[in-house]
Amino acid sequence: MELRAKTTPEWADCVLKDFNPFLADHASCERKASAVGMSFVVRYPDRPGLLEPMISFAREELDHFHQVYRIMVKRGVPLTPDEQDPYVNALMKEVRFGRDERFLDRLLVSGVIEARGTEKLSLLSEHLTDPDLRAFYQKLAKAEYHHLHLFYHLAKRFFPEDTVEKRLDFWLDLEARIFKHCPIRPAVH
Ligand SMILES: [Fe+2]
Ligand SMILES: [Fe+2]
Repeated sequence: MELRAKTTPEWADCVLKDFNPFLADHASCERKASAVGMSFVVRYPDRPGLLEPMISFAREELDHFHQVYRIMVKRGVPLTPDEQDPYVNALMKEVRFGRDERFLDRLLVSGVIEARGTEKLSLLSEHLTDPDLRAFYQKLAKAEYHHLHLFYHLAKRFFPEDTVEKRLDFWLDLEARIFKHCPIRPAVH
């Protein structure tokens, strides 16, 4: 799964200048990712083979949230109330309705969001000078990379390969268009 637009180093510079607000946004992204995992569990209890990986995914994202939260506590950064994420909202608007269509779209859009997270956290780790933070973000980027594959493989487990590839092409195009319209800010998206 290859993204069709690249994050520029200007984004990493912007984050480094405003690292504390970035941490608060990052924590909320991890918490929301965990909630997405549990929403798959709640909505699709009848899909064999989905529950075990999704519960693990939700736990792992919650653990990421916890780790970011602990970094925030160390730096005296408070958690902030939830804010709208224009990037995610714009993507979610295109999720189709029918039961199967919605399931496939939710898997693929989650995978694409994980792909963007992998790209951004990995870029950020290259720009961080603090060795602990650098190692932390490298580790997270690796975990997000596994998540993108998890969603992609789940999509291929439940749907024919050509259906998945065709729809993934749509999502990758859309993601690149939405991404290009997002302003650079000290946030994950
Ligand atoms: Fe995560
Ligand atoms: Fe993730």
